[in-house]
Amino acid sequence: MNFFNIILILTNMSFLISCQNEKAEAPQSAYSEVYRNQLHFSPEANWMNDPNGLVYFDGEYHLFYQYYPDSNVWGPMHWGHAVSTDLVTWQHMPVALYPDSLGYIFSGSAVIDHENTSGFGREGGPPPMVAIFTHHEPKGADAGTSTFQYQSLAYSLDKGRSWTKYEGNPVVPNPGIRDFRDPKVIRHNEEWIMVFAANDRVKFYTSPDLRNWTFQSDFGMGHGAQGRPWECPDLFPLVADDGIEKWVLIVSIGSEASNGGSGTQYFIGHWDGERFINDNDPTQVLWLDEGKDNYAGVTWSDIPEADGRRLFIGWMSNWQYAQVVPTTEWRSAMTLPRKLTLNNTKSGYRVLQTPVRELEQLRVQTLQLASGLIEEPLDLLAEISERSGLYELELTFQKPDSFPITITYGDGVGASIATGYNPVTQQFFIDRTFSGHSEFSKEFAGLHQTTRIDEMGDHIFLRIYIDKASIEVFANGGAPVLTDIFFPKTDFSDLEIIPSQGPISLVEGKVHTLKSMW
Ligand code: FRU
Repeated sequence: MNFFNIILILTNMSFLISCQNEKAEAPQSAYSEVYRNQLHFSPEANWMNDPNGLVYFDGEYHLFYQYYPDSNVWGPMHWGHAVSTDLVTWQHMPVALYPDSLGYIFSGSAVIDHENTSGFGREGGPPPMVAIFTHHEPKGADAGTSTFQYQSLAYSLDKGRSWTKYEGNPVVPNPGIRDFRDPKVIRHNEEWIMVFAANDRVKFYTSPDLRNWTFQSDFGMGHGAQGRPWECPDLFPLVADDGIEKWVLIVSIGSEASNGGSGTQYFIGHWDGERFINDNDPTQVLWLDEGKDNYAGVTWSDIPEADGRRLFIGWMSNWQYAQVVPTTEWRSAMTLPRKLTLNNTKSGYRVLQTPVRELEQLRVQTLQLASGLIEEPLDLLAEISERSGLYELELTFQKPDSFPITITYGDGVGASIATGYNPVTQQFFIDRTFSGHSEFSKEFAGLHQTTRIDEMGDHIFLRIYIDKASIEVFANGGAPVLTDIFFPKTDFSDLEIIPSQGPISLVEGKVHTLKSMW
């Protein structure tokens, strides 16, 4: 530390932030439980999984989600609901969709039907917000039939506050496929496109009015990672940094993801109006996130053109252990909201993820690190006056030839979570082997590494968000990305850069302390 000059730039924004927070309804819970994340959305109580119905309308980002309001484990699915005007602070809303005679309400999407193609809107009223979701009929599932999942509609004429199920449900009946779910609907060329998952593939349908759907094509057999079942697809165009438009197809897979269990892959290609054509070799696998805890993520619909961002959020857990993690009042949180962009790299087109800029409002203090050689552990919090346990790091290193870059967050006496880059294997990693509780699942502890990165410039850039029970690592401007949850048994208040095998060179670095969103 003595060879390091640390310059403290204090930007105390507390006053500003507390004013902004006053608009949110006073929460019932103090949101101060030991593993309650402070930068990430979670339900006040009980079980949550996938984000659903992500849609923007009239100044509000809507986040619906798979929710079981009666228990902290999965059960009869409802759609929980929250709204935000800034993607950072969230207001909990009443449950939006309840199970009915057609079944539980499984995952799906929502759109604003601006032209009232569905006819659900009323003369002079706002355009309908239409939810497209899977009905899962539990008796049929238990009896071993194969027709218990089908796609249905509900609509709201009051900004998502109250909902009416369509009397003509289901709009896509089941032809006899056990896994037949998670519709994502988008508007393109004056028609609606629906993509949903069917066991080992996705199916595409089109419609003029959201009520009547025509099958177009299947995609996926033999393409990409084949862990089953395929779930929660998303389809959207993105203009890459070279000006070329590509279509991105996101597919979550329930097993055999990059580091085990459930995870999310994507394909790059084009949509010809009837089918998705993969640009790449079918054997190529592109992972959206190579940590263990980013699943079923999809993107917001109806982001205004003036904004133009493609915004994503995922469920920050893994089906291997989601139901047994050591929280009791509630279970699980969402990832940070992220902006997706596309870059034409030497290895091909790649989706990059960046935490949304709105998160900067959570910064309280910024500590600028001086550049130089790091030859002994560097305490990143030495000059920090208040250790909130909520941090954002922006670190640029000279790409090392042989010595790994390691950043550890721990209790200083053995327990920690580590992240960094290993130049020998050319992999980024998170190691949560010694991060605390893991006894609840043999799948939890471990080292999670990205695929080998062959093409890289002279610098390693890491943007890292640390919350009470999660870490998100955005490397090299947004790919690769690693998201992991962790459950410390002791007080973590040491944050260090460790030159574990030899000196590493820091080009530039900033440590931001953050404040709670609640
Ligand atoms: C993904 C998923 C979806 C399904 C939902 C049920 O996590 O299995 O395929 O719609 O969860 O809660």
